[in-house]
Amino acid sequence: MEITNFTIKEAGELSKFLQANNMADITAVDRLRFVTEGRQNFSFIAKEKLDDGEEKIVGSIIAISDGFRGYLNKLVVEPEYRQQGLGKQLVNKAIEALTLSGCQEIVILCKPFLAKWYESMGFVKDMDSLIYKLELGNREGTECAT
Ligand SMILES: CC(C)(COP(=O)(O)OP(=O)(O)OC[C@H]1O[C@@H](n2cnc3c(N)ncnc32)[C@H](O)[C@@H]1OP(=O)(O)O)[C@@H](O)C(=O)NCCC(=O)NCCS
Repeated sequence: MEITNFTIKEAGELSKFLQANNMADITAVDRLRFVTEGRQNFSFIAKEKLDDGEEKIVGSIIAISDGFRGYLNKLVVEPEYRQQGLGKQLVNKAIEALTLSGCQEIVILCKPFLAKWYESMGFVKDMDSLIYKLELGNREGTECAT
């Protein structure tokens, strides 16, 4: 198992991996290009070598930064590779890269069932904030490539 920075060369494969794991909102190659081009790269994929010598993606984490705050997204581990510490390794890789870049804090949108898991890595619930979302998909002038 190898964890490396995600590069645009792997966008097609990562897109398929995310779709197969029901992460539908950032699966288009064009959108994945956004996280690698013209900016520091804080996103990682885990690849496993198969018996035939080919490699396949078995885990991913997409991270971006605004310079002060980092955001973690699309943490996914292929079902048969879960419960072996890979998810935590991917989170730690992104934390390390964001820390080295000078980020001061990291924000996640956490599913309730993962709260304890994130807390075990030092994340704390932000009691001052609520999450608000504005859907832009149906607005004029906001058409996105899919
Ligand atoms: C969330 C997700 C990425 C976690 O991946 P993972 O590789 O299973 O994560 P880890 O193995 O690091 O940790 C999961 C559990 O395995 C346990 N574990 C870690 N290393 C282990 C090992 N060597 N042997 C056995 N168990 C282990 C951990 O203790 C943890 O259990 P806990 O919840 O009791 O703390 C994965 O479940 C997933 O892809 N889910 C679907 C997508 C999703 O919901 N993503 C999150 C969006 S916020």
